[in-house]
Parts: sequence; structure tokens; C-alpha cells
Amino acid sequence: MRNILLGGSVILAALTLALGSRAETEGAQRPLDTPLAVYSAACSSCHGDDGRGRSRERVGFDVGLPDFTDCTFATREPDGDWFAVTHQGGPIRGFDHRMPAFGEALSEDQMRLAIEHVRTFCGDDAWPSGNLNQARPMFTEKAFVEDEFVFTFGAAVQEPYAVDAELLLETRIGARSQLELIVPFAGVDLEPVEGDPGSGGWTGGIGDIAVGVKHVLLAAESTGSILSAIAEIITPTGDADRDLGKGVFVFEPTLTFGQLLGPAGFLHLQLGMEVPAENDPGTEALWRLAYGYTFTQGMFGRAWSPMIEVLGNIDIEEGATPHWDLAPQIQITLSARQHIALALATRIPLEPGHDRTIGVWAYFLWEWFDGGLAEGW
Ligand code: HEC
Repeated sequence: MRNILLGGSVILAALTLALGSRAETEGAQRPLDTPLAVYSAACSSCHGDDGRGRSRERVGFDVGLPDFTDCTFATREPDGDWFAVTHQGGPIRGFDHRMPAFGEALSEDQMRLAIEHVRTFCGDDAWPSGNLNQARPMFTEKAFVEDEFVFTFGAAVQEPYAVDAELLLETRIGARSQLELIVPFAGVDLEPVEGDPGSGGWTGGIGDIAVGVKHVLLAAESTGSILSAIAEIITPTGDADRDLGKGVFVFEPTLTFGQLLGPAGFLHLQLGMEVPAENDPGTEALWRLAYGYTFTQGMFGRAWSPMIEVLGNIDIEEGATPHWDLAPQIQITLSARQHIALALATRIPLEPGHDRTIGVWAYFLWEWFDGGLAEGW
């Protein structure tokens, strides 16, 4: 252990010396003002000239070094997290302390240059940048592709009382695609049917299981925009007689768009249709808009993302009127690595004369690619 620590401090001391002497002998050596120059001076002793990480023998410790040429890992990390790790050292995002803090040794611009060089190791533009990935709203689907597990729970706080839960598993395929599996559970407090004393009361069970595929159609880091198409098939696994499912296969194609607004604001927009395989229930159009802003606690701490969603849908038939809901909410990251988050929302029906109820919702989110549930705290 002592050897490992020593190894780290020797490298740091050497680096400080190198940087110091560079500053003193101004002009005599190449100044640290290009991505490659900063990276070579400060990072390549561990991460290697090729970004794959030097061997254990070379670095003198056996914590695995990341492979920055691996696009699936390297592209999903937003600059903000890499900047935090470079500035404060590994532990700020739940990584090992052998990733040193450069906050004192390098200027903020130099750290940004080093990260810019790290970004060049995955030379494949097909992978959407993690900078386009924003906080997940409760109801609107994001355009970014994820390896994620989300458990959602909702409850109606007015009569008729009902509870909803949903397990969502998302897994990325290649640069731009994602598969998803949604397993819902519902409990409803049914109204008794007149003349049937045994009817009514709580009933519950599994709902309509859905599978889907998402594909990123466009990802433009320069404008902060990402557009994806999602195709979902909802299967009639829920008991329609007990209001737990629709009773028919439903096809749900949607388009979803994400847009950064300034340094910390963002918007998600989803438009789509629910097309049942049979005529009853009818086809529905849906639209969901989420606007949010991410505040960081301190410079590198927990992320708080308040959001507001406007949700609408309408049956495609003559004389139909749209349903509108408003859903104010907040998402909070829990782990230092930011891969575990919690969100709380309320969903309020808006149009007059509706028979829908106010609901409270919560989700627990785990980006499992970034670490186990117990890792990264
Ligand atoms: C003393 C060796 C060492 C030096 C020098 C070093 N790193 Fe690291 N770095 C590590 C180790 C070890 C890890 C892996 C930590 C872990 O996985 O727990 C790491 C991880 C990282 C990560 C986290 C990747 C992720 O998983 O999200 C980033 C980003 C990073 N380093 C950037 C840099 C930059 C930029 C520099 C130069 C300014 C640099 N490192 C210099 C050892 C080093």
C-alpha cells in the first residue's frame, strides 16, 4: 500500500517539477497550451500515449486504468464529470485516489485541453456525446441511449385510488441503438358493480409488458441536439377485465428530441402515436414536453434537476378532446459517481371536467454501466 502511495506521489512530484520548470524556463520548452502538450506532460505517464492505460508494471499500482479508445465507455461520460475527476482526483466521482487531482498543478484551461485530447482517442463520430445526455424526466422518454435500470412507483392520491409500479431495463447496442423492456404492475380500487355484492375492492397484478427499440437519428454536439426514434410493442399481458391492461397489442412509434439550452438548461420533446392492433380502443396521439435545469451543489457535488413536464394525448376520433397533465418534479443524483439518482414528481390533470386523479410519482435510477449499486459513493 505504502509503495503504491509513494508511486503516486513520485509521479505527482515529477509532474509538479516538470510543470514548474516549464513555467520558469519560459520559451525554452514547449508551453502547455495545446491538448497534446498538456496530455503528454500530465496524463500519459499513467494513461499512455495511446489512451489505453499503461501496464501495471509501468505505473506501479494495480488499479485498472480506463481504455479511452473504447468508445462505448469514453463517449458516454460528459465533460463535466471528467473535469471534476481531473480537477479533484478520482474520489470526487467515486473512483480510486490513484487518479490524482490536478486542480493545483494545472489551470482550468489546461485541464480542458487535456480532456479535449482524451476525447480524440475514440475516433468514431457515430457515438453520441455524453454531453447530450440530460436528466431523465418522469414521463417523457429521452433521446439519449442508456444502460439503465429504472424502478418507478406512482399512486393516485384521490379516489379512485390506484398504485402503479414499473421496472424498466435499457441496454445499449452498438453506437446508436438501445433495447428496452418495460414490466408494469398495477393495483386499482375498483368501484363495486350494482347488484353484485362481491364486486369492487382492490385488485392488482402485472400490466401490459412492453418491448422497444430506440435509435439515434441525429446527434449534433455543436448545436446540443439529439433526435431519436423509438418503436415500442405493448403486449396484452395485463388483465383487461380488471383494468390492468388494454387487452390488445399496441404499437407505439414515437420521435424524441433533446436540446441543450445554455450551459445547464435542457428540453426533451416526445411526439408519437399509440396504434392498437384492433379498432377498440382507438388510436391515440401523444405529446410530452419536459423543460429542466441542472444545478450543481458546490462546484462538483450532487446534481439537482428541477423539471416541469406538459403531457397531452387525444383519441383520434371525431369530437375527441385532448387530455392535458402538468408534472412538476425534481431529480437528485445520490452517488458521487452520479450513476444513481432519485426523482419525485406530482402529475396534475389540467382540463376541466376530467375524471382523472392527481398522482404522486417517484423513480429510482441506476446507470449500471457506470458501476454497481454499492460502487461509486
Ligand atoms: C498517477 C497516474 C494517473 C495520472 C498521472 C492521471 N491519471 Fe487519470 N486515472 C488514473 C487511474 C488509476 C484512474 C482509474 C480510477 C478508477 O477506475 O478507480 C484514472 C481515471 C481517469 C478518468 C476517469 C474515467 C472514468 O472512468 O470516467 C479520467 C477522466 C482521467 N483519469 C483523466 C485524466 C487526465 C485528464 C489526466 C491528466 C491531466 C490524468 N487522468 C492523469 C490515474 C492517473
